[in-house]
Amino acid sequence: MPTETVYGLAGNALDPLAVARIFELKARPHFDPLIVHAGEAEQALSYASQVPPEARLLAERFWPGLLTLILQKRPCIPDLVSSGMPTVALRVPAHPTALALLRAFGGPLAAPSANRFGRISPTRAEHVRAEFGEALSCVLDGGPCQLGVESTIVSLCGERPCLLRPGALALEELEALVGPLLVPSADPKHPLAPGQLPSHYAPRTPMRLAELASASFAPGQRVGALSVGPMKPAQGYARVEVLSEPLDLRRAAAELFAAMHRLDDAGLDLILAELTLDEGLGRAINDRLIRASQRT
Ligand code: TXA
Ligand code: MG
Repeated sequence: MPTETVYGLAGNALDPLAVARIFELKARPHFDPLIVHAGEAEQALSYASQVPPEARLLAERFWPGLLTLILQKRPCIPDLVSSGMPTVALRVPAHPTALALLRAFGGPLAAPSANRFGRISPTRAEHVRAEFGEALSCVLDGGPCQLGVESTIVSLCGERPCLLRPGALALEELEALVGPLLVPSADPKHPLAPGQLPSHYAPRTPMRLAELASASFAPGQRVGALSVGPMKPAQGYARVEVLSEPLDLRRAAAELFAAMHRLDDAGLDLILAELTLDEGLGRAINDRLIRASQRT
């Protein structure tokens, strides 16, 4: 199903067999729990055993939308969904097709991003078809995802709200509502959300971080450049992807994964990418670029 962030591989969150099939299709390790999607905020919160006041505040302001909340779970959520943890990830997406599907179904849909584990997230229906082919009976085409990076994950299970994954909803917007969040250091070797592994969102083509204008590479090497904003003139790239010109972090985020898919399909030896400002959506973009360029 489409969402306004990325496409999701959806199955009945209350049916352990459907959930097992999602893990199987994605080749996803079982320690990596899934987000449970609902069509209404009240319904989403009904899967939590405790709803602190901040959860209500955040849900009222940002659902349907770009926020995923981690709360203590009710026993009706199968252990497979939460990877055996006592908590559950909840989101009400805003994409009209996702909402129509959720409301027609009536129950909760578990949906991870519709890519194989560790690979680039899908922001177009054709990315999903290319990844899974005949293995999927149906792809709901909701057009290109408007935001293009995953939802922002906030845990409300500790003493203070904690940012577990920077995403399409900017930290600044969250903090304007609930005050400072705990923002754990972005050390990719010590992920806070299980499954946020150092190597993630990775193209098949090797990818490295670099200053694009001054990077050097061997003659004859086919190198692609991924620039978030306008790029200084540089020689020798076989293919250049500029996400947004002039720099607009929202547009850049929306283009990020599609540009990574195009570079990955261009038969390159290497992809070089340059980080952007660490503010607003820049945080989510940098997080994805850093993980995509890590090899485990
Ligand atoms: O935008 C999105 O969030 C998309 C769309 C489809 O909703 N979904 C998505 O799902 O990005 P996925 O599976 O690719 O990433 C979900 C993240 C994982 O890093 C997982 O570890 C974390 O959510 N997560 C899920 N349940 C959790 C829990 N109980 N505690 C902490 N992290 C959790
Ligand atoms: Mg994912």
